Amino acid sequence: MTHRLSRRTERLTSSLIRDILQITQQPGVISFAGGLPAEELMPDLDFDACAADSRQYGPSEGEPRLRALIAQGLSGLGLRCQADQVLVTTGSQQGIDLVGKLFIDEGTPVLLESPTYLAALQCFRVYGAAFHGLPLQVEGIDPDALKAAIVRHRPAFVYLIPSFQNPSGCCYTDAARRAVAAVLDETGTPLVEDDPYRDLVYSPCDRTPVCAYLERAPWVYLGSFSKITAPGLRVGYLASSPALFPWIVRLKQSSDLHTSRIGQAWLTHFIASDDFEKHLAHMNGVYAERRNTMQFALVRHFSGLAEWSAPAGGLFFWLRLVEDVDTLAALKVALTHDVAFMPGEPFFPVADQRYPALRLNFSHATPEKIEQGIGLLSEVLSQCCETAFVTG
Ligand SMILES: Cc1ncc(COP(=O)(O)O)c(C=O)c1O
Repeated sequence: MTHRLSRRTERLTSSLIRDILQITQQPGVISFAGGLPAEELMPDLDFDACAADSRQYGPSEGEPRLRALIAQGLSGLGLRCQADQVLVTTGSQQGIDLVGKLFIDEGTPVLLESPTYLAALQCFRVYGAAFHGLPLQVEGIDPDALKAAIVRHRPAFVYLIPSFQNPSGCCYTDAARRAVAAVLDETGTPLVEDDPYRDLVYSPCDRTPVCAYLERAPWVYLGSFSKITAPGLRVGYLASSPALFPWIVRLKQSSDLHTSRIGQAWLTHFIASDDFEKHLAHMNGVYAERRNTMQFALVRHFSGLAEWSAPAGGLFFWLRLVEDVDTLAALKVALTHDVAFMPGEPFFPVADQRYPALRLNFSHATPEKIEQGIGLLSEVLSQCCETAFVTG
């Protein structure tokens, strides 16, 4: 029987990450592929402290106490924001989806970093977005290139991940943040700022939200508890400029009524407790060590094969390969050696900006496995480079 499905479904792509994660869950595989926090660092989930009324339906906007705590945290970052501008979401991924529903019709132009978060590309693509990529440099995107692209394409919004970007690890300088905000204000272009990694920080760097520098342009700021507590809770949030907020709440209502009250109740309790800061400090200490282990292993095994810089925070190294290697083919070879990475190719919004690259996660594997896995991976990549050299 043939079903009559929407045209939208023709734009659905299978999630490469999910497909790879399936394989990498097999015992014995060292995986640098996903963006998984380490299970051993996740706080214990004790739901006894959650109020009994968590069982009943709740407000679409989220639990009032949690919204107030989030608004307080954002105000501390310089983002002028009241609790009534905060919406609790089912992961920040839902925030991305709501933004897609809010702004995108078939053919709507959207500007984003190149490369950028794969699942945002997938989501915006389903709504019919026409992508225009802004090449990412060490200090962030170039404000002049942003202005030129806005004038040329008139995008519905610009989607940016300025702190410890996925996949590149890039953290915008303060000057870049201010200059980007100035261009958005001047042109009145809405900013969607995705910031799930901001609290995973290992070396000092500026992380003031770009939204905090905006004076006039509309904005949506997306945050997440996934990377700093437990992603299985599926609790994230967004805050937005007042005019956009009622639209987003209505879209949320029609999507899932509200986010799980049990997860919200647990998080409200946890982030208001003294344990939260201790937990973050411990997590950052362990991840900093894993980042350093990966950096040393890369220097030993990948010098001459790739170029990279150690990220100041977040969960990923981004390696730009020196040779023109087919990274999807290299992944298949790597999996036969029980090691996995994420090929760079799908992170690029437009094909002509692509270059051969790998994304490597350093939070999930232990330091011993990182050492072992990077050694194995360099052998695979060296072989692939030799093949590229012979055939190319
Ligand atoms: C840039 C970015 N945004 C959003 C998300 C979604 O996170 P969650 O829905 O778990 O909050 C991720 C997850 O990896 C991400 O990397």
